[in-house]
Amino acid sequence: MCGIIGYIGNRKVIPILLSGLKRLEYRGYDSAGVGYLVNKKLNVFKAAGKISELENTIPDFEEETFIGIGHTRWSTHGAPTTLNAHPHLNGSGNIALIHNGIIENYLTLKVKLKDLGYQFKSETDTEVIVHLISFFYEKEKSLLKAVRLALHEIEGTYGICVVSSLESNKIVAARKGSPLIIGVGENEHFVASDAPAIMEHTNNVIFLEDGDIVEVFNDHFNITSLANQTITREIEKLDLDISSIEKGGFPHFMLKEIFEQPESIQNSMRGRVLLSAGNVKLGGLENFIDDLVGAKRLILTACGTSWHAALVGEYMLEQYAEIPVEVEYASEFRYRNPILGKSDIVIAISQSGETADTLAAVKEAKRRNASVLGVCNVVGSSIARESQAGVYIHAGPEIGVASTKAFTSQLAVLSLLTVLIGRRKNLAFSYGEKICQELLNLPKKISQILYQKDQVEAIAEKFYEARNFLYLGRGYNFPVALEGALKLKEISYIHAEGYPAAEMKHGPIALVDENMPIVFIAIKDSTYDKILSNIEEVKARKGKVIAIASEDDKTIESIVDHVIKVPNTLEMLSPILTIIPLQLLAYYIAIKKGLNVDQPRNLAKSVTVE
Ligand code: AGP
Ligand code: GLU
Repeated sequence: MCGIIGYIGNRKVIPILLSGLKRLEYRGYDSAGVGYLVNKKLNVFKAAGKISELENTIPDFEEETFIGIGHTRWSTHGAPTTLNAHPHLNGSGNIALIHNGIIENYLTLKVKLKDLGYQFKSETDTEVIVHLISFFYEKEKSLLKAVRLALHEIEGTYGICVVSSLESNKIVAARKGSPLIIGVGENEHFVASDAPAIMEHTNNVIFLEDGDIVEVFNDHFNITSLANQTITREIEKLDLDISSIEKGGFPHFMLKEIFEQPESIQNSMRGRVLLSAGNVKLGGLENFIDDLVGAKRLILTACGTSWHAALVGEYMLEQYAEIPVEVEYASEFRYRNPILGKSDIVIAISQSGETADTLAAVKEAKRRNASVLGVCNVVGSSIARESQAGVYIHAGPEIGVASTKAFTSQLAVLSLLTVLIGRRKNLAFSYGEKICQELLNLPKKISQILYQKDQVEAIAEKFYEARNFLYLGRGYNFPVALEGALKLKEISYIHAEGYPAAEMKHGPIALVDENMPIVFIAIKDSTYDKILSNIEEVKARKGKVIAIASEDDKTIESIVDHVIKVPNTLEMLSPILTIIPLQLLAYYIAIKKGLNVDQPRNLAKSVTVE
């Protein structure tokens, strides 16, 4: 589920592979490797750990080398060791393969191949593929045919890239359930799992679909199906520039992305807010708006941060669009028996658009004849393509593994969707206009919060050694408590729990003592008085309270230990502001602990395995 880069052309391949792999680092990985042809001989170098480790193992070459593949591995089968890193070679060392995904029937295949005399060097599931290809190559003497026949034997998910000294003028690649694109340059081609890997070279890409196998040469490529039918796919132009995937002076992508939010949220709304009509326009939903207005129920499905965005969406859509909403973890949705009626609409929310659980939920919903909409960030991603219609959030590439700007953009888009449906129902023009106006005011308000970064850093200094944190909120800000806790867990490895504030007394209050920092989202909304009582309950037990409060709250300072103020806005939009200080808090705590915030341990940016 990690990173793939392949190159064939007239330029030296090693720098292209290494810079491509570095651009993919954000996806999270534990080992890396490259394989390339020198004088028609395969050279493979691998290393556990970071790409810098891999770089140290690659000798300086006098010879020029123009074809190769590179991989960052996120281990699923076998420890993250050098031996288990990809590429994997066949027994004769003349076929090299990299793989993203999981081969589910690898054990059966391994037993069969071992019986035939094939020797395995790694513990990975991946290695069976290269031996299978080798097995079929013996008979067919064609790399393409051998790959196709091998894939017929395989159950599971894959994005693969193969090079061989037996046919040294091509790369063969294929996908099923794991993204793969081809980058088209002048007399050169790239294969990659993700656009940032090749963006510095070309914006012209082809999105491969599940079941595609492609033979890539310097100057052309042929796409065929598993059944060997010719397939034609359009070249698309990606509208991304290289600065969007660089740090731009910030020490980490996460901090850059937190600070980008005034702009990213504006991009999510650009051309969509019709202030004078108190309404919004979402081009991707134009043919779907009647269905949405007539829907009996919406089912929002997602994972992680996107699931938290869905929870906020539930509050908004029920209040202003007057549709019953259910929010379900995609991983649960796909494995129960969801009863879907004709007028139910499933909305899948995913930053990457590649999350395996969410993609599977989309497919399950379609199998049950439900209409499926996608709310994604990555243009052309699998979920976006699999959905019948949808809205892009246009937050720009999110590189930090901990999602920040995608969350606020998801909330902005869900607010737009709420107004769109609401205005066709009972949402008055004046209130529609008010929501639109407040949405447009948000970028400035986010900037105001970002100015307080030093204050948040000072709070982080006080608490970075804490072992546990509680995050409490109510109503619209309950999901923010969950998201704040998730951010802290992900990058600081401090145990943190999010709870509805009122639930505290039903259990978590037992944890409260003078060592327990508790973050309250306590803005002046409809639950403010109740939250104040919850704060008092914590203070009575000596807990340390950090409050996210409204800028005009003059009294909260006297009750709590630390306060971060946020500007006032509509209650439904408040999560877009209250989450900002919590993102900063998690960031500064992790920095003070000396941790790698952009690539936290064990996590991957897009989880393309179950
Ligand atoms: C967010 O910080 C996490 N890395 C994770 O929970 C993420 O939100 C989840 O894996 C879903 O990803 P998606 O939005 O790309 O589908
Ligand atoms: N399942 C393979 C392995 O564990 C591929 C992992 C990946 O997608 O990086 O090696």
